[in-house]
Amino acid sequence: MNDTRSQGSAHGQWSSRLTFVLAATGAAVGLGNIWKFPYIAGEHGGSVFVLVYILCVAVLGVPIMMAEVMLGRRGGRTPVNTLRMLAAEARASRVWQIIGWGGTLAGILILSYYSVIAGWTLAYLQYAVTGAFANFTGDGASALFAQSITGNPLTQVVCHTLFMVMTMVIVARGVNRGLEQAVVYLMPTLVALLLILVGYAVNTGHFMQALAFLFTPDFDKFSSASVLTAMGHAFFTLSLGMGTIMIYGAYVPKTASIAGTSVAIAAADTMVALIAGMAIFPIVFANGLDPAAGPRLIFETVPVAFGNMAGGTLFGALFFLLLLIAAWTSSISLLEPGVTLLIENFGMTRSRAVVCIGLVIWILGFGTAFSSNLWSHVTLFGLTIFQQIDYLTSNLMLPLGGLGIAVFAGWVLTRDTSRAELNVRNTAVYTAWRLFIRWIAPVTVSIVFLHAIGVV
Ligand code: PFF
Repeated sequence: MNDTRSQGSAHGQWSSRLTFVLAATGAAVGLGNIWKFPYIAGEHGGSVFVLVYILCVAVLGVPIMMAEVMLGRRGGRTPVNTLRMLAAEARASRVWQIIGWGGTLAGILILSYYSVIAGWTLAYLQYAVTGAFANFTGDGASALFAQSITGNPLTQVVCHTLFMVMTMVIVARGVNRGLEQAVVYLMPTLVALLLILVGYAVNTGHFMQALAFLFTPDFDKFSSASVLTAMGHAFFTLSLGMGTIMIYGAYVPKTASIAGTSVAIAAADTMVALIAGMAIFPIVFANGLDPAAGPRLIFETVPVAFGNMAGGTLFGALFFLLLLIAAWTSSISLLEPGVTLLIENFGMTRSRAVVCIGLVIWILGFGTAFSSNLWSHVTLFGLTIFQQIDYLTSNLMLPLGGLGIAVFAGWVLTRDTSRAELNVRNTAVYTAWRLFIRWIAPVTVSIVFLHAIGVV
């Protein structure tokens, strides 16, 4: 047991702290920031939702991220086995491994729809390259989306398949090769392109309206459903509550500081989401689009911006390329917990494990691809298959997983163990973390959760 710990994980190790930061930021920054954050902020009326989301990132996200990295690094294995091993070490019940199973399942479910949306990005990359957005209006963009995505199950399946193959190839090669190098260049470029979009958005004349929408609190719009969604999104956007950060933590060198790294990742992730919001809402208001349009929001706004900008074909193509890459670095991380589980517990090779899980996810993805067309009538509580998977994972499974991780790290692990593994020199920082992880995170998540499902 100790051997594994001192040598790091059997699956590999990041070559430095920086590569871990980049890989974890790559996992965190994805469709959640650029596609999902603006549209759910729009659906929940903006400002208050945004504030609650930022609060959740700071109060719940950072301490839980520290806990996940810590558990992962100490365990060095797939989340299921890390939790089993650490529970045994602390003489606690084997039942704790259930957090690992739930998280691995959540990853599989999330990737099934994530891959379909990433597939839309692939289709839009092709439209951008061929200059399809030239002189686009809001109506033109809506029509393109309706024809090419909502109304076209075949395009969606083809793009979903391509994207799954892209993800599976990388995971089969192992995380170290290629991925580490790629994120160094791609993440800064993504931010630069978002800033270009903001530059365009400032000139639409609706920038102040967008800022007011995003940041001026309007408590009339406050509801418990918004709070649950904001909390769920904080987990989703930071990739918490499902073992991704735990397995990435397993590859972290013993010398890296967990606290500083977690703050850096959370801050970078939040910045990207806010910049995306500031880029997109001015275009929404300038073109009379609906801020509550839902998942199609960025596919209707971004093409309008690029279609009316000098050099728009190039920038539009670059934007969708980078969005694709952001989705790619995240989806790789979604696959990793399930793959390492099959390797460790079922003795499979990495390639075989990737094919097995990849196939399951690929088939599950049809549920999302057909949610807006062939199977749009298949609903439960008024939600399509895509909406149900999204609700189940983001609003229920991730917060519950995060709650389990907080309780495990705060109450099951001894003070000495967590202190040694976190290795924070400053006692105040450790004490604050312990307060958050033992009390504030579990109590907050439980209250929001119970309230949202109508128990309190
Ligand atoms: N954090 C990613 C995003 O914001 O797009 C999505 C994600 C990746 C969620 C990995 C969960 C995860 F484990």
